Amino acid sequence: MQGFLKFFVTINVFLTIYCDNDQQRKEEHGYCEKTDDGVTCDNDDNLRLTRLDGGQIGDVRTFTVDDGRKLEMKTLNTKPLVFEIEDFLTDKECDHFIKVAKEIGLESSQTEKQSAKRGLQLMDLDSDKALSLTEMKLTIENGYDMYFDDEDVIEMYKELKLDPNNDNIITQEELTISPKELANYLNGYIKKHPEKHSRYSRQAWLYPDQSTDTVFQKVQKRVSKVVELPLDLIRLSDFQVVTYGVKGHYNAHLDSSKIREGVRCCDRGKYSNCRICRYMTVLFYLNEVTSGGETAFPFANKDSINETEAHLERVHHLYKNCEDASLRVSAKKRKAIIWYNHVIDEETGWMGDVDEFTLHGGCPVTEGEKWIANFWIKTNNDKSLDLEKMKKLPSLK
Ligand code: OGA
Ligand code: FE2
Repeated sequence: MQGFLKFFVTINVFLTIYCDNDQQRKEEHGYCEKTDDGVTCDNDDNLRLTRLDGGQIGDVRTFTVDDGRKLEMKTLNTKPLVFEIEDFLTDKECDHFIKVAKEIGLESSQTEKQSAKRGLQLMDLDSDKALSLTEMKLTIENGYDMYFDDEDVIEMYKELKLDPNNDNIITQEELTISPKELANYLNGYIKKHPEKHSRYSRQAWLYPDQSTDTVFQKVQKRVSKVVELPLDLIRLSDFQVVTYGVKGHYNAHLDSSKIREGVRCCDRGKYSNCRICRYMTVLFYLNEVTSGGETAFPFANKDSINETEAHLERVHHLYKNCEDASLRVSAKKRKAIIWYNHVIDEETGWMGDVDEFTLHGGCPVTEGEKWIANFWIKTNNDKSLDLEKMKKLPSLK
């Protein structure tokens, strides 16, 4: 009898705590319900983006997913906040995404900078009207998204006969070639050395919201449940499968962009006169990499960020300097890592400014190949635009 009483009291306390949490969640997140089918919300006005509380590094929260598996979500880092979930996907799901990407066909990845063809902007940092090796490397990095070493620049000077006195400094008088000639040289060089590019990989876009693929739908629901965001918002995500061979890498970058007044967020596939807006990144590792291919966060846990200094120190150059990154995550099949590219705007409850500490990239693969999927949860700064898109989604079959 005593045992029964104890059991009853425990149950009662549990229920009270549970209900209180639920009530709080409803108030905070706008009447949302969390089930195995993801999160559904019924009050647009109160709807706010969520940001899970990471607690401290090493903290773990457990949850059961649709197929009954118990998963652990571990806080890997707090600045920026990064979570890791081992076995988020099943082997079959990983293999499925690779198969679909292969069927669609993978093409060479292009970075935003590369496709924008920004051209030549001389980075004469000390305004001495001449370019040192460092300044020339930055010029090439900034304009063409290529990461040259000193030797590569010197080779270029020789080929183009730019530095007759061999002092490794290019004065105004010595800069005898046109920007077009320089671009031609660099384009030829990158064909022979694709690893000099900031991103050396192939990719395919998959369109989960337009597909009736049940694997996608299941994974979307799982993501919705884990990140506690409405399934309809998750369904607007972008999904990109990326593969790297040996020397494949992606130098450090942000997955999203700073708020710029008057510049709207891009729609999928249309990237001119707009900025990329991705509230969260959920990155899946789809295969076992024999060696290399970690995901690195070089600004993790730094006190502050000085972009120019970081570029001068070549912090972004993960192809060379991956070991120096303060947070590195190993690529392990089935694992997901999750981070927030933006903070929440307290006033609107929706996407606020970008979190620059999320700068990250893929370290070079040294053996084998690497397959990942980027599941980008996209939002606008203006909540009403997202609500509009969510309403237009076709109902799930
Ligand atoms: C990306 C990216 C990291 C990795 O594709 O945007 O950051 O580990 N990838 O491949
Ligand atoms: Fe990225």
